[in-house]
Amino acid sequence: EISLKGKHLLTWKDYSRKEIIHLLERALVLKQSPYSGALSQKTLAMIFEKSSTRTRVSFEVGMTQLGGTAINLNSRDMQLGRGETIGDTAKVLSRYVDGIMIRTDAHQKLEELAGNGSVPVISGLCDLYHPCQALADMLTVYEQKGQLAGVKLVYTGDGNNVAHSLMTIGAILGLEVVVASPSGYWPLDFITGNAKKLAAKHGGSVTVTENVEEAAAGADILYTDVWTSMGQDGEEKERKEALFPYQINERLVTAAKPDVSVLHCLPAHREEEITGEVMEGEHSLVFEQAENRLHVQKAILEALL
Ligand code: CP
Ligand code: NVA
Repeated sequence: EISLKGKHLLTWKDYSRKEIIHLLERALVLKQSPYSGALSQKTLAMIFEKSSTRTRVSFEVGMTQLGGTAINLNSRDMQLGRGETIGDTAKVLSRYVDGIMIRTDAHQKLEELAGNGSVPVISGLCDLYHPCQALADMLTVYEQKGQLAGVKLVYTGDGNNVAHSLMTIGAILGLEVVVASPSGYWPLDFITGNAKKLAAKHGGSVTVTENVEEAAAGADILYTDVWTSMGQDGEEKERKEALFPYQINERLVTAAKPDVSVLHCLPAHREEEITGEVMEGEHSLVFEQAENRLHVQKAILEALL
């Protein structure tokens, strides 16, 4: 019997393969029967220090469908925005709510929140990771390919938070993960190192390369994300120039397997990291992927809260 009650979700590194598969199986069940009273009378606090559409709405709707409530908190309107510490905020919120979801700019804040509170803390994205996104991605891959182990997932573009979480969860689930980026935009070394270790243990692989054409050969999944993440707006011009060769377009799709699926966590910038043609094309699963955010969020909430 797997119990995840009370556990934080900051990165998949803290979870076993069994635990992740358990969450995916629950998400599939909840996708079929969405409404229950599993979290009746429970409350989730959602703190946003950055914009969000999918994360915010899927968590809030998820809580409603499970019989609970979500409170949407913008950090600017909280005393956090006037200098109250994360630690004190965690201690106080823990006395009111059953879980805290936070989207923030620094992973360390998540750790402070988790370290000072007494309720589960769930990352809704930080500078290093986007774990809930990666779980939705794995659900989407599984639904489409019927398996996870051995699937070749090629992430092309900026080696960012989304790439980091894909490498980590992909390694644990035995995928063949390839990240193709220009050298200045590679994933952080310590995250790549950890992911490689996890892959070795679980029978998958994690590779980082500059050669996107070679990477795309034989790909089951092509995945990309924005070139300029939230908080990097000043670097937009140089990022566009460096990352343009890593765009997902028809040419790259043709280099992959004939039945390749294309994923993007959204929001997308058409004609930058992905062409409109591919995004609207027959290989694209981006909106199924967005829908799956809701189903996995609920599996996570049900298990942790
Ligand atoms: N993919 C994702 O996290 O979307 P939002 O920024 O809209 O939450
Ligand atoms: N890498 C992007 C993901 C947005 C969902 C960002 O951090 O802005």
